[in-house]
Amino acid sequence: MNRLKIAAGNWKMNKNFGEGLALTQALVAGSEDTGNLMILGTPYIHLQTVGGLISNSNHIKLAAQNCHQNLKGAYTGEISISMLQSVGVEYVILGHSERRQYFDEGNALLAEKVNTVLEGGLLPIFCCGEALPIREAGTHVEFVAKQLKESLFHLSAEDFSKIVIAYEPIWAIGTGVTASPAQAQEMHQAIRALLAEKYGNEIADATSILYGGSVKPANAKDLFSQPDVDGGLVGGASLKPDDFIAIYNSF
Ligand code: PGA
Repeated sequence: MNRLKIAAGNWKMNKNFGEGLALTQALVAGSEDTGNLMILGTPYIHLQTVGGLISNSNHIKLAAQNCHQNLKGAYTGEISISMLQSVGVEYVILGHSERRQYFDEGNALLAEKVNTVLEGGLLPIFCCGEALPIREAGTHVEFVAKQLKESLFHLSAEDFSKIVIAYEPIWAIGTGVTASPAQAQEMHQAIRALLAEKYGNEIADATSILYGGSVKPANAKDLFSQPDVDGGLVGGASLKPDDFIAIYNSF
């Protein structure tokens, strides 16, 4: 399978300006182009500087962690897609469970954001994933399918082919509890089957599906070796250069 393998870091609300600079410099110095992608999802204030630091590294790309659904206007405190585009951002993380939970982002709003990101010529990293009670009830596959259908399945095949999916079970995020490779594979396979049903095998096979939730150097290899796991969306371990480089080298 020749789909992109990706280690994407999500710094969340961590690292002041100087710390972000130091982290990026360490990642640039310590990683080599293996043919796989490293994506840095930084807070807004870092984007321009990090973009400059990685501009000579083919394998490192820049992501924002959010953007506003409207193109411009009176939305105090918000950031638009053209602002992101103007500083060299290529990817935008959308629908992270923390945004769903703390900022009330639902499937319909996320569908709007997906459209805005694509219209701006950027690439969404679309997050999905269930909370623990849903997994315990055994309805996790249906739950994730609904998230994908309601936010993505209005897209044309051409637009859908630009999407990266990140499956992040909420019970595994920041908890130190990782989904087992078998649990990740089960969901990723189900997601790919759903994509095949809607968009056909070719697009389903070409879509990168990342796993997120306590990915660490110690578990990355096992997770990434699953046939439908194409990399990770990494929070805590992306803040430590050695750990994140080890994860990037785990394919
Ligand atoms: P974690 O976060 O790696 O710290 O669990 C993952 C995420 O929220 O993307």
